[in-house]
Amino acid sequence: MKKEQVVNCQFSVWYPTFKKHTIKSLILPLPQNVIDYLLDDGTLVVSGREEPPSHSQNNDSGEEEEIQWSDDETTATATAPEFPEFTSKVQEAINTLDGSVFPKLNWSSPRDANWIAMNSSLQCQSLSDIFLLFKSSDFIAHDLTQPFIHCNDDSPDPKINYELVLRKWCELIPGGEFRCFVKENKLIGISQRDYTQYYDHISKQEDDTCRSIQDFFQENIQYKFLDEDFVFDVYRDSRGRVWLIDFNPFGEVTDSLLFTWEELTSGTNLRDENCGGETTEQDSPAFRYTTSDVTVQPSPCLSYRIPRDFVDLSTGEDTYKLIDFLKLKKNQQDDESDEDM
Ligand SMILES: Nc1ncnc2c1ncn2[C@@H]1O[C@H](COP(=O)(O)OP(=O)(O)OP(=O)(O)O)[C@@H](O)[C@H]1O
Ligand SMILES: [Mg+2]
Repeated sequence: MKKEQVVNCQFSVWYPTFKKHTIKSLILPLPQNVIDYLLDDGTLVVSGREEPPSHSQNNDSGEEEEIQWSDDETTATATAPEFPEFTSKVQEAINTLDGSVFPKLNWSSPRDANWIAMNSSLQCQSLSDIFLLFKSSDFIAHDLTQPFIHCNDDSPDPKINYELVLRKWCELIPGGEFRCFVKENKLIGISQRDYTQYYDHISKQEDDTCRSIQDFFQENIQYKFLDEDFVFDVYRDSRGRVWLIDFNPFGEVTDSLLFTWEELTSGTNLRDENCGGETTEQDSPAFRYTTSDVTVQPSPCLSYRIPRDFVDLSTGEDTYKLIDFLKLKKNQQDDESDEDM
């Protein structure tokens, strides 16, 4: 994979060309002090709040909720940096996008960090929601520190202008998402994106899905992207309309899902696998999806998480667990003081 391929997959590079076919989004340049804050892995103190962290905040249901992890002691010793100008630009952009956004950097979203958010989702309403996800995400750290790590050309690293991408929040049904692999401007493979689950409608609508993605590719994507090898993600909505979600580099850095990179680069196994099964079309891509005999599969991002108990304790969501934890601590202390005597 070449560095140029990675450069071409940045959101701000492809978005102007494909705007009509994708989710409405806004791009804001990231100021250097914000980048420094995101890279600083000291205490996780979330900046960007309109009120100080110990104040109450509205949750989804409109009820008041105390922020539990920031007690008086932590606020006294660690203060979050403030970025008033950037905060108001971000809030304005979020409002333009109807109040709820899906955040990304130049390439990645913090998909590995959704467990840390109050709502266990990547849906953000404010800059502090975004910072919490970004600071907890290895994928975001990858974008900031080593975007070219999988490249094999020796040219100096191109200069990157970091950007915050805000996409209007859309409830996407995972069974409607597909990843498409393009080699030498030919669509060679389509994979179900959420491959850990079996979706009845995918096997039932295999031909239609494959046809509509191929048409979408030919009409809107082919020869229009800056490279001839690339990966693009699509969403097929309940009415059968196809939308573009993202572009990714054609190489190891991108998850090959139900294919292997060996198959995709050599193309050998894929030649006889035409989508629709009976089709004799030479150029139709291989279409892979999870069949009904799938067994229980772990979520692909599971290894990035911490034990649920830690989350419950730190957010105060499970009071009984907290009481048990405090009792345990007290017993330990009592045991220790008994020993001292
Ligand atoms: N605007 C949106 N609103 C709600 N959910 C979204 C939105 N955009 C993307 N998603 C969800 O988030 C997932 C990841 O999005 P996206 O592909 O943009 O992130 P990524 O970091 O580039 O992922 P990857 O590393 O797999 O390329 C999508 O599969 C989709 O389920
Ligand atoms: Mg992507």
